[in-house]
Amino acid sequence: MERTAQLDARTVVYEPAPPPDSAHARAARVLTANWTGTSTVPSRSLYPHQWSWDSAFIAIGLRHLSPLRAQTELETLLDAQWEDGRVPHIVFNPSVPLDAYFPSPDFWRSSTAGRAAGAPRTVQTSGIVQPPVHALAAWLVHRADPGLSRARGFLTRVYPRLAAWHRYLLHRRDLGGGGLASVVHPWEQGMDNSPSWDAPLARVAPAPARSFRRADLDHGAPEDRPTDLDYGRYVRLATEYRDSGYADGEGEFAVEDPAFNALLIASEQALARIAEELGARGTARRARAERLTGALVERLWDPAAGMFLCRDVRGGELIGERGVSGLIPLLLPTLPRDVVTALVGTATSGHFGLGGPCRLVPSYDLLGEAFDPHRYWRGPAWFNTAWLIERGLRTHGEQHRADELRDAVVELADSSGFAEYVDPYTGEACGTAGFGWTAALALDLLADNGGDRA
Ligand code: SER
Repeated sequence: MERTAQLDARTVVYEPAPPPDSAHARAARVLTANWTGTSTVPSRSLYPHQWSWDSAFIAIGLRHLSPLRAQTELETLLDAQWEDGRVPHIVFNPSVPLDAYFPSPDFWRSSTAGRAAGAPRTVQTSGIVQPPVHALAAWLVHRADPGLSRARGFLTRVYPRLAAWHRYLLHRRDLGGGGLASVVHPWEQGMDNSPSWDAPLARVAPAPARSFRRADLDHGAPEDRPTDLDYGRYVRLATEYRDSGYADGEGEFAVEDPAFNALLIASEQALARIAEELGARGTARRARAERLTGALVERLWDPAAGMFLCRDVRGGELIGERGVSGLIPLLLPTLPRDVVTALVGTATSGHFGLGGPCRLVPSYDLLGEAFDPHRYWRGPAWFNTAWLIERGLRTHGEQHRADELRDAVVELADSSGFAEYVDPYTGEACGTAGFGWTAALALDLLADNGGDRA
């Protein structure tokens, strides 16, 4: 890979080249079709801009095709960082028509409403964030071609930005006062219509349906997407956050989420490695990751549920819905052994069906009242959560289960046309096709990089 990259990092060169009818080649074609020149869209139709956590997952797969493109993907995103450290969840492409996606730049008004928070002047972004997968992605991208990374000063340039991003989350978003970061909008956690949000969202008065026009329904089947009532509440929350100048602390919705915080911890561990690679000490970051892991267990672990739950910071209590988010902390290597054992038990129980009726992990409890096998994050299986759980299983010595999950990701990604998500029982494609992170993470699991993942 290193030699190839030195020859021409923009060209996909393989020795021998994968056959054009292979899963590898089909996944690579999705990433090529979605590449804009500086970043990758999640989907040409449904999501035609750059999304924050999508880009991090995409970079993790893209590193196997072109380490330079993978580095560029992360650099483009971080170029849109706000001065307060937040990394916006969408970076808008100015050449895409305003009505192609809602909410568009004229809704977020980042360069005016976000001025006090230090939004960039030259690029339009949203004002909310997404899960911090970026330092983990940057480290994995570096490892794919350390020579190119050093020659371009990749880590030297991204490190201060990633550090500022984590500082923002740890200081400005500790709304519960227990050390964990809170999300202030369901779009921030990324699992938009998870049943875990139903209770805290019920307090939010929806914006009138006629005050906005959903563009997602031009491209996605309504039964696969969030409802109009959900959208009314998303719009209300985003409007109020914008009108506060994107100031943190006041909003109606504040939730501590296990996946968001587990990804922050994994990224803090990656940042320690990056610091060491740059000749600095990673000790303080490792200690912080340990403290955060302790806070995660203390604040979000529910022994009776056998998994992590979300905490409603405004109401104060744990939310009694089992979402896949509560299994994601499995990726943390220093999780207590009894917690690991319980998480594996829950993933393989009737609630999530892993290794039984489900080859991938559903996004929500198969036995939950709100379960719906097709509606976005209320049941379908997603490929990024499978990738994270595969990593967690491997980290904790569950090699056989990890191998099965890896094979399922690769096969179902390919057979579904790199679907955004699939029916957890049948593998039927849902949402949009040619989805960026589905292709990227399948490529990652196809590559022989077990050492990176374990
Ligand atoms: N996931 C949201 C959407 O569907 C926003 O990030 O548009």
